[in-house]
Amino acid sequence: MIKNLKEYQKKKKKLLEHNKFYYDKSSPKIDDSKYDDLKKQLISYEKNNKIPKNEKKVDNIVGYRPSEKFSKIKHSESMLSLDNAFNKSDIMDFYKKINNFLNLDLNHRETLFAEPKIDGISASLKYIDGNLVQGLSRGDGDFGEDITENLKTIEDIPKKLKKLNTGELIVRGEVYIPKSKFQNLSNKFANPRNAASGSLRQKDAKNTAKIPLKFFAYGTIFMNHNLESKQSKFLEFLKYQGFKINPLGKIIKDEKDLLDNYQILENKRSELDYDIDGIVYKIDDFKLQQRLGNLTNSPRWAIAHKFSAEKGISKIKNIEIQVGRTGALTPVAKINPLNIGGVTVSNATLHNEDEIERKDIRIGDTVIVQRAGDVIPQVIEVDTTKRDQNSKKFIFPKKCPCGFDTIKEYNKVTKKYDAVRRCPDKGYECNLITKEKIKHYVSKDAMNIEGLGKKVVENFWNLNLIKLPQDIYKLNFEKISQLEGWGKLSAENLKKSINKTKNISLEKFIYSLGIRHIGQENAKILAKYFQSIKIFKKLLFEKNNLFKDLLELDGIGETQINSLKNFFSNNTNKKVFEELIKNLSISDFIIQNKGKFINKTFMFTGGMEKMSRSEAKQIVENEGGKVLGSPSKKLDYLVAGDSKPTVKKINQAKDLGIKILKEKDWYKLINF
Ligand code: IVH
Repeated sequence: MIKNLKEYQKKKKKLLEHNKFYYDKSSPKIDDSKYDDLKKQLISYEKNNKIPKNEKKVDNIVGYRPSEKFSKIKHSESMLSLDNAFNKSDIMDFYKKINNFLNLDLNHRETLFAEPKIDGISASLKYIDGNLVQGLSRGDGDFGEDITENLKTIEDIPKKLKKLNTGELIVRGEVYIPKSKFQNLSNKFANPRNAASGSLRQKDAKNTAKIPLKFFAYGTIFMNHNLESKQSKFLEFLKYQGFKINPLGKIIKDEKDLLDNYQILENKRSELDYDIDGIVYKIDDFKLQQRLGNLTNSPRWAIAHKFSAEKGISKIKNIEIQVGRTGALTPVAKINPLNIGGVTVSNATLHNEDEIERKDIRIGDTVIVQRAGDVIPQVIEVDTTKRDQNSKKFIFPKKCPCGFDTIKEYNKVTKKYDAVRRCPDKGYECNLITKEKIKHYVSKDAMNIEGLGKKVVENFWNLNLIKLPQDIYKLNFEKISQLEGWGKLSAENLKKSINKTKNISLEKFIYSLGIRHIGQENAKILAKYFQSIKIFKKLLFEKNNLFKDLLELDGIGETQINSLKNFFSNNTNKKVFEELIKNLSISDFIIQNKGKFINKTFMFTGGMEKMSRSEAKQIVENEGGKVLGSPSKKLDYLVAGDSKPTVKKINQAKDLGIKILKEKDWYKLINF
């Protein structure tokens, strides 16, 4: 029971704080039942007492914490992220990659469509025969939350389309709250984006309806590309169907166009009634988009050009050394907290030892700090005029805080020593690397254990509950439920999400190990090669000459092989590996069973006129085939491009009786 206004205000503040933990930091610190109880007490007090006019009542604030989770549904095609560009050179890189992939002249400038990047929450809408039947949030990209009823309350989203030749249409876009409307909402949200997120995830859609949410449609999936030929045309089609399209989209012919448009939009940014954090460039032509395809997390055919960073001035209180997952020692400046663009910054990266030396950064220095979107804030300049006379050069430690001597690696290509100092990555032997590896293990793209975020890992680490990844499977949930900020329900939820992720694919598991140089793409290549955890273990543990065989995999080079060797020659790592697989059920790599190149292997030599090696590889893989890096008995086809094929490879293939395709035969084979 709440006794007086003061207690009411105190408890309301607490409730709002918990809301923040739930959404902004995505780590609830209170049990659902305790939260509901707190809310009930506040509402009951509001009913029976006079509340001053300037106090927002809890009853009126739409509680934005859903009481139950929404059901999860698989997206027809993954909802990806976008790669970022921050300057002209990143943009030129984007053009270069496209030209390389499509085998176009390096000076070619493919037509792009530029759209403001709306800083809201993405949603995917499914229409069948013109009726809106399903609306999903992005979720983890593969599975979204079913928020159909909530999305239906948004006026900008048509519930029925005009006329459609195709049975199914997926429309993707961004839900947002106009800035002007956000100001009138209660003060419990840090920004319009959080407000949109919270409102959309109301269990009761009636509460969503109370929020002035809006929607810009911006895209579809490859499957629907037959509807129009270009992004610009497709947006017109969406407009005709009753969607709201952002009016600031523009065709871009070359980099001058692109940079002019960037300036114009950046200047306009503050006048717009919605937040934008950059510009998205998309290849306008749908056929080319399809040819370019996707990487694991982002499409090759689009990029986000972020608006320039915001800056502020502060003072370095201390310099701490952080050890990353791959052993890199990163100096981090602890600075006097300052607000940059609405975000409080108290840590800023100093990148590496060389950077400190080059800029002569010292403790006590006055520095300019920069923050750009979701990128870690960084110290970009020192104001030496403000430097204390007695200040001393910062001496970078030569030992890792774990005690190991550190090293600087020599790069054979650049013939220079690396700028980064490292704790030699012995895997799970350095306790600091291990802690970071555990954070990686539980992360979204890896095991994706909900409720076990970085902060919880840090906390459990300090409490000695998790010291190695396998400790996750030995947690005592009874004990956890008694920890501060935890309760029976949240401990139970954690247990459930750990159990739920025990069924994992081979490629995700390989990626989860956090082996240096084995990112998502390489994990997939390895999973495809080994196919099952049994073979993976057998070969890596027992077969000494295996590493040579791996070289034949397109995409795996000496760097990756050395890193695998290093990891699997260490007994602690092997033990962790064994313990993990004991606790998991790792499914075999699913070999695509559709496509005309099932069980077929290809190798390419020489350049081709109409496509790059990367595109040819993608085509083979999309059709269920494999690309090998060197000729062997396992090879079915050697494709010899017209431009400078390697004669030795052709002769080797001939000797092995392998079918050799000329460039034109290859085009015929794939109907190109
Ligand atoms: S296209 C494959 N267009 O930005 C991704 N995205 O970082 C294609 N976004 O999750 C996305 N405005 O929520 C696209 N005009 C726009 C966008 C936009 C905002 C968001 C979207 C996506 C995120 C990517």
